[in-house]
Amino acid sequence: MHNYNILLEADKMPDMWYNIMPDMPVPMSPPLHPATHKPVSPDDLAALFPPGLIEQEASIQQFISIPGDIMDAYRLWRPTPLRRAFRLEKALNTPAKIFYKNESVSPSGSHKLNTSVAQAYYNKISGINELTTETGAGQWGTALSIACSMYNMKCTVYMVRVSFNQKPYRRGLMQTYGATVLPSPSDTTDFGKKILAEMPDTTGSLGIAISEAIEVAAKSGGSIKYSLGSVLNHVLLHQTIIGEEAKLQLESVGEYPDIVIGCVGGGSNFAGISFPFVHDKLKKGKDIDVIGVEPTACPTMTRGAYAYDFGDTAGMTPLLLQYTLGHNFVPPGIHAGGLRYHGLAAQVAHLLKHNVIRSVAVLQNPVFEANLLFAKCEGIIPAPESGHAVKVAIDEAIRCREAGQEKTILFNLSGHGHFDMTAYDAYLNGKLEDYELSDDILKQGLTCLPDIKA
Ligand SMILES: Cc1ncc(COP(=O)(O)O)c(C=O)c1O
Repeated sequence: MHNYNILLEADKMPDMWYNIMPDMPVPMSPPLHPATHKPVSPDDLAALFPPGLIEQEASIQQFISIPGDIMDAYRLWRPTPLRRAFRLEKALNTPAKIFYKNESVSPSGSHKLNTSVAQAYYNKISGINELTTETGAGQWGTALSIACSMYNMKCTVYMVRVSFNQKPYRRGLMQTYGATVLPSPSDTTDFGKKILAEMPDTTGSLGIAISEAIEVAAKSGGSIKYSLGSVLNHVLLHQTIIGEEAKLQLESVGEYPDIVIGCVGGGSNFAGISFPFVHDKLKKGKDIDVIGVEPTACPTMTRGAYAYDFGDTAGMTPLLLQYTLGHNFVPPGIHAGGLRYHGLAAQVAHLLKHNVIRSVAVLQNPVFEANLLFAKCEGIIPAPESGHAVKVAIDEAIRCREAGQEKTILFNLSGHGHFDMTAYDAYLNGKLEDYELSDDILKQGLTCLPDIKA
């Protein structure tokens, strides 16, 4: 009998998040103020974030207690199952053991709820009743909409225009939870109006949507705060519950991964599954191959520059030392909307720069081919973003078959693709385009980088 689901009892769920900051092999460069280029102070962040999150952003404490209220919300869907992909292993005829953490079982359908609940909580206890945010594919916007409805808060979501048009049901879902959803660029902000005047037909980008959401919070006089679905230290911190649970679940069946894989947009689900294992690699000398996967259409890690850059297009966020394609870069309209981000979490960038982790870029047609095989074997339809991790997990399992190696592979299934069926439809009808960007396009993107020594 196959033990497909490796479950963790609710009372065994970790009650602390893991903070990688004190374990970094080399200290990280500080975030800089967008205007002065001096290190940002907590006061600089106060217009956008509540005190609890600002404290976490700069914390050097290795473990941070999860408040009881958030633990209670997590128990709505956590601990999530760790699944052994026996059927996929059989289809691939591989000696590798493939495990995946199934974050698609959350009410929002992805890992994003792990941080939206926490962010809504810390805002609510500081007296805030309204949040603004951006969303690419709609997964983050959905997660924040649910969290705001849980804490009785208002939520406005700037949704990247191409996804707004491609995914009407995702938009309806956010509205069902009570959020206001606007296509970005929109005519409700100064920055949105400027972009619309310059590029009326733009598909939009996460960078533009972030700028619009920040503008609304910054001009509210403190009553509205901004919430980000990835990139920042506190967001990555909240996601580490994924890897912490996975570790306990693997331990319960006497396993430990040789390879850990996650897809990378801003870097939060990748950090979530991998950082607790990166801790073992850095501090206990464990030999683990940690792989972040991105689309070739938005090759931040594999072809971007390591430089200080803004997180948004208007240049309102602090400057972070990261891998970037340039904050003005607008990626092609691939269906993995959540991976269409020009930059990268500074913590993930730092680990990549110091060769603790590595990166791989994949084309979208092979991703969907992998997704179909996974769906047929495992019954779950991956989100196009998550499919990037599925694809590389399959590639690694095939490599194991060819080399006769019995490695243990762990990947994060960050979400399901139930609202992405137009993408599957396009793939099934041979209408998905693969994008390999030319050096000239990438060079052009980097011309906007601020002149700051890394
Ligand atoms: C299902 C899913 N996976 C992954 C991502 C990428 O984000 P991150 O790199 O922060 O995990 C997104 C972003 O929207 C997403 O919706």
